[in-house]
Amino acid sequence: MGNYEVGIDAISVYIPPYYLELKDLALANRTDPDHYLVGLGCRRMALAPPGEDPVTMAAEALETLFERYAVSKGEIGMLLVGTESSVDEAKPVASIVHGLLGLPSRCRTLDVKHACYGATGALRLACDYVEKTARGALVVATDIALYDIGSPGEPTQGAGAVAILVRKNPKILTFEPFVEAVYTRHVWDFFRPPHRQSAIVDGHFSVQCYLEALEASYLFFREATGRSFLDFQYLLFHIPFPKMAKKALARLHQVEARFSEVPCSLEEDFERRVEPALYANAEVGNIYCGSLYLSLCGLLERAQDSDASALLGLFSYGSGSCAEFFCGRLGPDPNAWLGQTGLLEALKDRKRVTYEDYVAWREAREGEIGGKRFRFKGLDKGRRLYTSPKRDESRS
Ligand code: COA
Repeated sequence: MGNYEVGIDAISVYIPPYYLELKDLALANRTDPDHYLVGLGCRRMALAPPGEDPVTMAAEALETLFERYAVSKGEIGMLLVGTESSVDEAKPVASIVHGLLGLPSRCRTLDVKHACYGATGALRLACDYVEKTARGALVVATDIALYDIGSPGEPTQGAGAVAILVRKNPKILTFEPFVEAVYTRHVWDFFRPPHRQSAIVDGHFSVQCYLEALEASYLFFREATGRSFLDFQYLLFHIPFPKMAKKALARLHQVEARFSEVPCSLEEDFERRVEPALYANAEVGNIYCGSLYLSLCGLLERAQDSDASALLGLFSYGSGSCAEFFCGRLGPDPNAWLGQTGLLEALKDRKRVTYEDYVAWREAREGEIGGKRFRFKGLDKGRRLYTSPKRDESRS
C-alpha cells in the first residue's frame, strides 16, 4: 500500500450566525413538523444573510484555522476550494480567498467542482501534492444550499464552510492509502444551470443514485483493501439530510450480508457508529461540499479518550455523479482537536430568524444575482460590495 502519512492536521468550521427553526418552516409549508424533524432528521437550517456568500464563508473558516492552530501562511503551497455555489463563472473562489487571506504568491489556487464531491476531489489532489513537497495545502468546502421555496428539498437547505489543512504526519486524521474506490455515473439527479440560484433536483432519484454509488464504491474499497465496514469505529457519510445516513448504513448492512454475517442490528449500529456525528448536520442543514467534513467536525468535538487512533470509514457523494469510499485513522491525542474546530461556539452563538426574514433574505439573494435589488458596487480591500444592505447592517 505504500507509505502515505498524509492527512488532516487542522480543521475549522464557519457557520453563519442565523438559523431558521424547521418547525417554523413546516408551519409555513403546512406540513407536519415531524416530516422534517423525524422523516428527514433535520432540526434547524443555517441561514446566510444576503451579504454573505461562499467567498466570505471560506475566508471566515480559514481565519479560524489560522487563529487556532500553529500554521504559518508562508508554508501554504496550494489552496483548493470545493464549491457548487460559486460567485463567478471564471474567477475561482480560491483566488479571491487567497487575496483576502494574504497567502504567498507561490501558491496554486483552483476551485474543484463536482456537486458535493468537489471538496473530496480537492482533498485527494491536496494529499498527492503534500506527499511530494515540504509544503502544506489548504482545502475549503464552502456552499449555500438552495432549493425552490415549498419544494421537498427546501427543509434540507443550509450554509457553511469547512477549512482543512493537509500536512505530512498530521495530528488529526491520517488517511490510509487511497485505493481508487471511486465511482462515476452520468445522471441528471441534481443540477443547477448558470442562471439559477437554486438547484433542480429529482430528490427520490438522487437518493437511489447515492445508494447505488455507495454500494459500488464500497465494493471497490472492500476488494482493494480486504477491509469491511465492520472494521471501522465510526462511519461518516455525505449528509444531504441526517436520515440519509441511516439509509446509507442500511445499504452497507445489506451489501455486507452477502459476504458475512453482520453481528449487530441496524438500530444498534446506527446509534453507536453513525449518530454521534449527526447533531452538527441536524443543526446546520446541507452544506453540500462541506457536509461530510461538518460531520467529521461533529465527531471530533465529541471525541472521548477511547476514540484515540480510531479508524474512520468515509463516504463522499456528489450528484451527477461521482463518489468515493476511503478511510483514515484519528490521531493518538484528542486534545489536538477538541474545542478547536469552532463548531460548538458557532452553534451556540446564533440568532433565530423568522420565516418572513428567511423569505426576504432569499429574495434579496436572488436579486443580488439578477441585479434587481442588490447591485454589485465594487471591491473594497477584496470584499465584494453591494448597494444594500451591507453585511454589517444585516448582522445587527
Ligand atoms: N412523520 C414522520 N415521518 C414522516 C412524516 C411525518 N409526518 N411525513 C413523512 N415522513 C417521512 C417519510 O415516510 C419518508 O421516510 P423514509 O425516507 O424513511 O421513507 C421521509 O419522511 C421523507 O418523506 P418523503 O415524502 O418520502 O420525501 P420528501 O418529499 O420529504 O422528500 C427528498 C425527500 C430527499 C426527496 C427531498 O428532501 C429532496 O429532494 N432533497 C434534496 C435532494 C437530496 O437531498 N438528495 C439526497 C441524495 S444527494
